[in-house]
Amino acid sequence: MVISLDRLGLGRGISETLVTTLSPRGRPNAGPMGIHRRGEGLWVYLYRDSRTFPNVVARGRLVVNVVSDPLLFVRAAFSDLAPGEFVRIGGEPVLREARSWLLCHARPGRGDSVKVRAALEPLRGGVRRPGVEAPNRGRAAVLEAAIAATRYVIFHDREKRETIERSRRVVERCGGPGEKAAFRRLELFIP
Ligand SMILES: Cc1cc2nc3c(=O)[nH]c(=O)nc-3n(C[C@H](O)[C@H](O)[C@H](O)COP(=O)(O)O)c2cc1C
Repeated sequence: MVISLDRLGLGRGISETLVTTLSPRGRPNAGPMGIHRRGEGLWVYLYRDSRTFPNVVARGRLVVNVVSDPLLFVRAAFSDLAPGEFVRIGGEPVLREARSWLLCHARPGRGDSVKVRAALEPLRGGVRRPGVEAPNRGRAAVLEAAIAATRYVIFHDREKRETIERSRRVVERCGGPGEKAAFRRLELFIP
């Protein structure tokens, strides 16, 4: 089955999503995670101290949820979502608020004492609300840099220069080809 990641709102670079998993006892969990997409590759880095990590080790699967509500990112990062915030699709936990979802086979591989890289293989996906796109920090960083640059070209202040430099690092790490091209263009205008 060919699944279009673009249609699910998972662009190139790192998409910020909520990853949902089931514990071995069947309890659903959600945690914000960045989904890396480069070339044909799809993967996620899982912090060992997250609840998501042992769930993935136990079941070998996870669901990537594209959501647009920033409050949901904060709540999922620092507290448990209520069981009623999940629905089951084919037995797998999907967020009620998900604009789209992607069930993946996840194979934890190499890592260090802090995090482990898990290769993702898409199994099934669905769009619940069309016109979706996962947040990409690289895109936000292009906008931050562009705003700072409009001030920097006039005032040459150090704070704006630092914002541009910080943004460059985020674009390099998280951006897709579109964000990187936009940043290169922006740099042409910065003295
Ligand atoms: C925007 C955002 C992106 C994050 N990306 C990751 C990630 O890629 N991998 C990871 O393990 N944790 C990531 N985190 C941190 C986890 O979300 C955090 O450790 C959370 O408590 C994990 O939830 P869990 O313990 O329910 O699995 C991210 C947090 C935020 C806010």
